Amino acid sequence: MNFLEIAKSRYSVRSYTEQKVEPEKLEKILQAAHVAPTAANLQPIRLIVVQSDEGLAKIGKAANIYHAPLAVIVCSSHSKAWTRPFDNKQTVDIDASILTDHMMLEATELGLGSVWICYFKADIIKKEFKLPDDLEPINILAIGYANEEPADPERHETQRIPLNELVNYERL
Ligand SMILES: Cc1cc2nc3c(=O)[nH]c(=O)nc-3n(C[C@H](O)[C@H](O)[C@H](O)COP(=O)(O)O)c2cc1C
Repeated sequence: MNFLEIAKSRYSVRSYTEQKVEPEKLEKILQAAHVAPTAANLQPIRLIVVQSDEGLAKIGKAANIYHAPLAVIVCSSHSKAWTRPFDNKQTVDIDASILTDHMMLEATELGLGSVWICYFKADIIKKEFKLPDDLEPINILAIGYANEEPADPERHETQRIPLNELVNYERL
């Protein structure tokens, strides 16, 4: 599959089989995160890979991860991230999301399903995983083998706004 085919075939998986993610596949997913760019290459992201029953139960106190056998908590350091000097905008969310997207698409290429999760109680994640104050959990990526019919790769024709509404040339 070329890149656009991978991007089109990805969909949010909300039902997983019990099959574990093979260590070689996890390694590739983590490599995809490793090569992702971050603002000024400051690399403020730290990943927590969770596969144990105990760890997944801890996440379960904060989020619904749909019984996925693997979850990656994508955390960002406020002291390490780049800050734009003009308005003090920090890139913590942006950097975390680029790594998350790299992992999500690598998972798709490997035949795995995933769902990106932001609907979680950050304070509980921080407490359960004993995160330092500086480190904010931004995204959770749940990964595993889908236990549902794949979504139609052409669904974006109807499930996304038209390309000409999304894209504007030269002016809005
Ligand atoms: C930033 C972000 C946060 C999301 N948070 C959640 C979430 O907490 N729970 C969930 O089930 N899906 C979540 N999703 C998945 C979206 O609902 C989903 O990507 C969107 O509806 C499009 O569907 P598709 O991924 O199947 O193409 C999130 C996606 C993104 C990009």
